[in-house]
Amino acid sequence: MAEVPGNEAQDSAESSEAHIAVHWREEEYYDPPPEFTAQANANDPAIRDRFTEDKFPECFTEYADLLAWDERWHTTLDTSNAPFWKWFVGGKLNASYNCVDRHLAERADRPAMIWVPEPEDADHVTITYRELHRQVNEFAALLRDFCGVEAGDRVTLHMPMVPELPVAMLACARLGAIHSQVFGGFSGAACGHRIADSGSKILITMDGYYRSGAMQDHKVKADEAVEAARKEGAEVEKVLVFRRSPGQYQSGTPMVEGRDVFVDEVLPSYSGQTVDPVSMPAEAPLFLMYTSGTTGRPKGCQHSTGGYLAYVTGTSKYYQDIHPDDMYWCMADIGWITGHSYIVYGPLSLGTTSVIYEGTPNYPDAGRPWRIAEKLKVNIFHTSPTAIRMLRKVGPDEPAKYDFQFKHMTTVGEPIEPEVWRWYYQSIGKRKAVIVDTWWQTETGGFLGSTLPGLDKMKPGSCGPAALGIYAEILDENGEPVPAGSGRAGNIIIRNPWPGVFQTIWGTPERFVQTYYAKYNKDPDSKDWRDWPYFAGDGALQAPDGYFRILGRVDDVINVAGHRLGTKELESSALTVVEVAEAAAVPVIDDIRGRVVEMYVSLKPGYSPSTEIENKVKEAIETDIGKIARPKNIWIVPDMPKTRSGKIMRRVIAATSNFADVGDITTLANPEVVDGIRHQVQAAKHARGEVPRELTETELAEIKSFGAE
Ligand code: WT7
Repeated sequence: MAEVPGNEAQDSAESSEAHIAVHWREEEYYDPPPEFTAQANANDPAIRDRFTEDKFPECFTEYADLLAWDERWHTTLDTSNAPFWKWFVGGKLNASYNCVDRHLAERADRPAMIWVPEPEDADHVTITYRELHRQVNEFAALLRDFCGVEAGDRVTLHMPMVPELPVAMLACARLGAIHSQVFGGFSGAACGHRIADSGSKILITMDGYYRSGAMQDHKVKADEAVEAARKEGAEVEKVLVFRRSPGQYQSGTPMVEGRDVFVDEVLPSYSGQTVDPVSMPAEAPLFLMYTSGTTGRPKGCQHSTGGYLAYVTGTSKYYQDIHPDDMYWCMADIGWITGHSYIVYGPLSLGTTSVIYEGTPNYPDAGRPWRIAEKLKVNIFHTSPTAIRMLRKVGPDEPAKYDFQFKHMTTVGEPIEPEVWRWYYQSIGKRKAVIVDTWWQTETGGFLGSTLPGLDKMKPGSCGPAALGIYAEILDENGEPVPAGSGRAGNIIIRNPWPGVFQTIWGTPERFVQTYYAKYNKDPDSKDWRDWPYFAGDGALQAPDGYFRILGRVDDVINVAGHRLGTKELESSALTVVEVAEAAAVPVIDDIRGRVVEMYVSLKPGYSPSTEIENKVKEAIETDIGKIARPKNIWIVPDMPKTRSGKIMRRVIAATSNFADVGDITTLANPEVVDGIRHQVQAAKHARGEVPRELTETELAEIKSFGAE
């Protein structure tokens, strides 16, 4: 790697679909602090040699060997049913055993989890591995004997950030049942679709939880979920309701006789019971995690037991640098893949202490995370650019007031602006913490791109090279490699399978092949993994030093605060409002949340625009998806700009919302509407003080090609 990066802007090339030319300034390098490297799990550069392509796939036995297996595998990678890869075939293990039981001999009294409730006057709760073992066993006994849950059954969880969530996940895993945790902030309807799609008969939820200082009624969503699932023909048999304070019901909704049960009333019958962990094939599904894509239906990403657990354990060790005695805090929500892999499975598999915080980072003020870090002596901290931007905006000088010191910090979920990275490094890391910018996805189980924290130099805004055993490349639309240092962007792909990759989309294997593998596969009958590059759906470019810079989604997905929202999902929800004839969702650059959603709608004949309709659209989206998806603005326009074939030109309205040049509109069927829309939207934005700063080249490229046609 070059010591001093070139500081010149990259050459610009013609802008086309296949080759988006991107100007960007090469950022300066930062060395990992020597004290960090001295103690790092990966501090010998020779580690890279163990994962070179000639050692694939056997290199990944190093990760699998971090686990306790009931039976060892006979085949590391079976490609016979490409691209449905099978890892560690013949091996058997239990994920709950690996995350709980195996630590008892040496670390039973060590905290497995520390739960921090949002109200600051409430004490944190420490759960040792011994205690976790007791809770997981008792809840597994309840699931098995009270609910009849068996290996292979799907169980939907709609839980907030409380220790009962990992307990329920691990209890499912103990029985070999497949958990499907739905992000607690999602609506009841969104939960209901996922219940129906996965075929769950059991829903596990909680009465309420604290968020931004207020107790949320969460049980009400369970009633909506059961109703939504019923509309899709799925019947929920039991709703298990944890009470955040046992004995004290905090929801206004009645319990449904014969269906709803308070866990704290049933659990005492299982007191002290143990359940033998069911020895599962490595290839048995461990969980489903739904995510958004180009169609209206969320995809249930199915993750395996052996491959997934091996991959998150290995990457937690080398990339999160987790040692058993660390105090590790990932501020993500367990309802996303980050929480599954890097709050629950990875850290607990390594026997460390994982901090779980119930509430919002800025409650009651921007100092909260730093007070938690100080009090609990957190030394590894993991969060998203959105959280960093928010904490920086409301309390730029807060961190200096507290006595905490991280050795390691992570950023994940969206690109981080170099300026924000530097604040993270200087003000939060106090120049003594190493930073990893980890690029990956719900589908990939664990990190795909990141620096090795003890060995590689950091570069703000770049995730770094591909992770160990991951062979990443950038291809153009024709499948030709776009070389490192060319200054051109393309589609980032992974040439090889890895143990953490998801196994399929639940129920729709054709969609799995189509979405992730068809694009660059030349021979659908090939059994050779080399013929099946994994299409990640992200635009990226590779600098001369080999580091990747991720630009963002190339599909119809908008990344809001590090979470994926599908434009189709948003639009179909808007279309449920009776007055709405057409709807189109576009991303708008936002200084805190990265992107926010704006929705353009046109009305059916006979209706005229009103704030009431705007609110109806917002509420429809909140009901169908959740608050997180609520659009910033609804623009009711007389007519949508369209192609001659009738397709809405999203790039034109996206440019309008972002005050960017709308580009070529000569191919539109109705170019005359564009000016009117621009005046309407931009005048309103001026009036609301929503004029954005000047956009960067990469932001402009994204906006101007959004949904391009
Ligand atoms: C999409 C995946 C991975 C867990 C959280 C999000 C974007 C993710 C980075 C990063 C730039 C990133 C990509 C990716 N993304 N990490 N470090 N730098 N972009 O999981 O909801 O499945 O979203 O998030 O666009 O495709 P997800």
